[in-house]
Amino acid sequence: MKPLGKLRLGVNIDHVATVRNARGGAYPDPLRAAKLAEEAGADGITAHLREDRRHISDADIEGLMQVLSVPLNFEMAATEEMQRIALRHKPHAVCIVPEKREERTTEGGLEVAREENRLAGYIAPLREAGCRVSIFIAADARQIDAAHRIGAEVIELHTGAYCDAHAEGHFDARDAELERLRQMSAYAHSLGLEVHAGHGLNYETVAPVAAFPEVMELNIGHFIIGESIFRGLVPAIHEMRRLMDDARAPLSV
Ligand code: PXP
Repeated sequence: MKPLGKLRLGVNIDHVATVRNARGGAYPDPLRAAKLAEEAGADGITAHLREDRRHISDADIEGLMQVLSVPLNFEMAATEEMQRIALRHKPHAVCIVPEKREERTTEGGLEVAREENRLAGYIAPLREAGCRVSIFIAADARQIDAAHRIGAEVIELHTGAYCDAHAEGHFDARDAELERLRQMSAYAHSLGLEVHAGHGLNYETVAPVAAFPEVMELNIGHFIIGESIFRGLVPAIHEMRRLMDDARAPLSV
């Protein structure tokens, strides 16, 4: 199968804010990083306004809405406060993620199947406001079915288990995770959902996921921001873009 279209790269800038917040000042500025990422070819910027505001702040979201030329993918938990903020800014996309205060990062996908009715009501006004609603879930048919039933247009598949298995050298487990992601991308697409993927991707793990023809967007943050310490933000993004394009290229002919 040929890819369904160009694979978009969403650069997540949360961890520029993490470094800034370590000193409580204004430097380094996530908005400056976002503009640079745009210049480097990012197709979108992703930012997660967490309930505890540990990295991105309300002012960052306000600023991103004003300065960005590419779409903002606003990640948030399904709380009333976040819904109010999203409805005020009306970003291009809203990605609903699970959030626990004690976690270091978004550890699993959203349990859509368990809260279907609430989530259906929760995303309806966001969709009416023109936001593309995406649901961050594990590669699991139950969750995909539930995301489809509640009216989401997009799902983002959690690639964390695949990336962790790779990092730990558990290659059989990694390959099994990859196979699950591949099958569930195709399944979600067959239901009419747009498929995105992300979490934990780096130069070693990105290509097999980029090669799934149904995947339209990858959201990548921590690794790109980390790698930019060594090679600069623009070259770090260019290399990710190259790996994504190379993985996609053989499929396009
Ligand atoms: N996609 C979603 C929905 C996320 O929550 C995150 C982490 O904030 C990412 C992608 C990016 O993950 P990473 O920073 O590990 O690349």
